[in-house]
Amino acid sequence: MRVVLVGAGGMGKAWLATILADPAVELAGVVDLDLDVARSALADAGVPDLPVGTDAVELARQTGADAVVNVTVPQAHHPVTTAALFAGYPVLGEKPVAPTVAQALSLVAASEASGKPFVVSQSRRYNAHAELFQAQARALGDLGSLATEFFKAPHFGGFREEMDHVLLVDMAIHQFDLARFLLEAEPVSVYCEEFNPPWSWYAGAASAAAVFEMSSGARYTFTGSWCAPGLETSWNGAWRLSGAAGSATWDGDHDPVVEGAQAGPAADPGEGIAGSLAAFTRFLADGTPLWGEVHDNVLSLAMVEAAVESAATGARVRLDDVLDRAHAQAVADERRDDVLAVLKGWGSARAALRR
Ligand SMILES: NC(=O)c1ccc[n+]([C@@H]2O[C@H](COP(=O)([O-])OP(=O)(O)OC[C@H]3O[C@@H](n4cnc5c(N)ncnc54)[C@H](O)[C@@H]3O)[C@@H](O)[C@H]2O)c1
Repeated sequence: MRVVLVGAGGMGKAWLATILADPAVELAGVVDLDLDVARSALADAGVPDLPVGTDAVELARQTGADAVVNVTVPQAHHPVTTAALFAGYPVLGEKPVAPTVAQALSLVAASEASGKPFVVSQSRRYNAHAELFQAQARALGDLGSLATEFFKAPHFGGFREEMDHVLLVDMAIHQFDLARFLLEAEPVSVYCEEFNPPWSWYAGAASAAAVFEMSSGARYTFTGSWCAPGLETSWNGAWRLSGAAGSATWDGDHDPVVEGAQAGPAADPGEGIAGSLAAFTRFLADGTPLWGEVHDNVLSLAMVEAAVESAATGARVRLDDVLDRAHAQAVADERRDDVLAVLKGWGSARAALRR
């Protein structure tokens, strides 16, 4: 599979190294709005002669690529991915699927209208310990509660220290997505509070607490902070799961610890973005099912949007209401007739996402 990589920033460089290391994938070229950034990423990776460009579709056509990997900033996810899908290229894109659920629904419809797959790389699912934790969750029978504590104190500098809802939008989407994966259930509603401790070095709320009701009846609770020095958790967070047949904890970095019914061994899904890329390659080659197909991924972003809305209003927010409002917004904003026809043809966004 020959791919064009779009976006050569911090995460783009990690993707560049991952693509070069995967024997099933060939890098056709690198696109960035800033050509010097693209050139220097290629030079740093030891492949300075590969083609560069500023337009993904143009470079994909010039180089005869098979697919596009979109690692641009979130604001560029919708335009870059839509253009690639309608030019005939399958797309693997970084999380979040888009900045808003409305744009995410437009991308679901664009994938349907173009007939090309769009997969969101939610790379924290690709983790052997998380896979084992999910197997353990199944062994514990009916599940009552899943909880994540996420406490870290990074000084990123740059956009994160200025953005609104920084913990919920930039970080918690990983844990919310993992909660869907671990519970094998979908979010129904959420109550959330977010706040910024007095010592925070972030402009937006760096701390949050949220309780989700899930479709299985289980509750998922998230508490976290990005300005919590001391006794820091792992980047995956610290997890606790309680089921009818016992309990399990996971520190995010090692195998889970269990008291109760034990699961057998679990398959290794590969690690992080390398696992995500390998799954995408297999999916395109022979249709092997994978995580993150855009229909499936939207609900992870919807959890974030619902939590932010709950924190702003002080009310419990239903996910169906978030999806209905996003659907109406997507219809109002859509500029492509073919995508609009798909959006209008859905009975409801929730029903469309179950496909
Ligand atoms: N999975 C993870 O753990 C993880 C970690 C970090 C970042 N990310 C995600 O990766 C993505 C990129 O983040 P980053 O930290 O690399 O950002 P960045 O700002 O460092 O780099 C983004 C690059 O995209 C380029 N770009 C922007 N618009 C473009 C367009 N229309 N066409 C071509 N290039 C364009 C910019 O010039 C820039 O070089 C984001 O969606 C972010 O959320 C994921």
